[in-house]
Amino acid sequence: MKVKLGFIGLGQRGAAFGMKDGSIGLLGNVLNNAKDCVVTAICDKYQERLDAACKRITDNGDPTPFMTTDYKQILTAGVDAIIISTSWDMHVKVALEGMQVGIPVAMEVGGTHDLEDCWKLVDMYEKTGTPIFFMENCCYNKDEALVTSLVRNGVLGDISFCQGYYCHDLREEICGGIDTHHYRLAEYTNYNCENYPTHELGPIAKLLHITSGNRFTKVVSMASKAQGLHHYIMNNPNYKDRLGDRVFKQGDVVTTMIECENGETIFLKLDTTLPRLYERGLTASGTKGFYCQTTGAVVLDNIDHESTKYSDMFFTDKNYSEYLPEEWRSITPEQMKSGHGGMDFVMLKNFVDCVKNKKPFPIDVYDAVTWMCITALSEQSIAGGCIPVECPDFTRGKYKTRKTVDTFNFPIINK
Ligand SMILES: NC(=O)c1ccc[n+]([C@@H]2O[C@H](COP(=O)([O-])OP(=O)(O)OC[C@H]3O[C@@H](n4cnc5c(N)ncnc54)[C@H](O)[C@@H]3O)[C@@H](O)[C@H]2O)c1
Repeated sequence: MKVKLGFIGLGQRGAAFGMKDGSIGLLGNVLNNAKDCVVTAICDKYQERLDAACKRITDNGDPTPFMTTDYKQILTAGVDAIIISTSWDMHVKVALEGMQVGIPVAMEVGGTHDLEDCWKLVDMYEKTGTPIFFMENCCYNKDEALVTSLVRNGVLGDISFCQGYYCHDLREEICGGIDTHHYRLAEYTNYNCENYPTHELGPIAKLLHITSGNRFTKVVSMASKAQGLHHYIMNNPNYKDRLGDRVFKQGDVVTTMIECENGETIFLKLDTTLPRLYERGLTASGTKGFYCQTTGAVVLDNIDHESTKYSDMFFTDKNYSEYLPEEWRSITPEQMKSGHGGMDFVMLKNFVDCVKNKKPFPIDVYDAVTWMCITALSEQSIAGGCIPVECPDFTRGKYKTRKTVDTFNFPIINK
């Protein structure tokens, strides 16, 4: 039996609507790999997005899905699970309604400005038992899988520090929101915070056993001045007249430090409104070694610098590949084309498998809210003059003994 999926939100991420870079979106990924699932119901506020998604589904040879502009109707359309890829402000509202009626939810990433949202998700889960899967695809990426496996195998020793970035030049996406209705335009106008923490923080949290033996205790954030968007707008005739007067609250670069109960510290950087290359910059520093995603370097304490070739200190298909989980050793070139270099394929396969076989979600409600709340906490920290802010324990003490599922079955290498 195929898992029947309902899609809510058919914009850039949901259905690659308006994308000119060859992206296929979550919908394309599901259609390409639909061995175990089928899209039977779709929803968006805009009819043209519904029509475009419907055409993709029927062009793929699948039956015409149920279509609606009212997401509540998806909840009564007989689906086995819903995928929420709406704007950030709608995630929790839709998720809560899905969970209330017992439909497993996959919710796209983003932070939250409201800690109450986090508690509502936890309470709803504890009341109904309906699981929620937080779609942090970076937790399924090859580099993140490698460094987690290195840590699980003790190669880097005890970890003291991790770092991650969300560096992505989003100036066109944000300003383009005036035509595309993209929510980031309002977000950058109205808030100043670490607004997108989870791509880098999710893998770090998993690596450090946050919510299962460890927890975040404190957050401190600092924001630079906000000038990147205004500069971009004043130099762009398409936006100058329409957005030239707009005052943006969001600082160009927000840096955040997080303290963990077990003594590790984490550095995050959000950098989305100045010219730059995409970078997630994951690093992990431990007693026996260091990993850096940007360079691919794996620097071990016991390396003989005289005899080790410089090129052997980098993660390649030759070096360290035995540490990769099976999913990344057996991935095909076709699957790697299925969104973000293959990580979307790996994540969706895992999600569908969990729904179909009623397995626990590796990224569950406690992980989701623990990562999402960094947005609200960073906002408080910045507004208070870079003050330290306590992190809530959304597990209510369960993290001390809680066992969670890893995103992969990491290989055990005996060296
Ligand atoms: N994991 C990733 O790699 C990745 C990449 C891009 C975006 N995202 C996430 O995907 C989500 C969507 O981002 P996007 O860039 O596609 O935004 P978008 O604005 O392009 O798409 C959001 C869609 O949701 C629809 N929508 C909003 N409210 C709705 C409602 N009440 N009912 C029905 N439809 C509604 C909008 O009409 C729009 O089509 C965000 O959470 C974003 O953070 C994740």
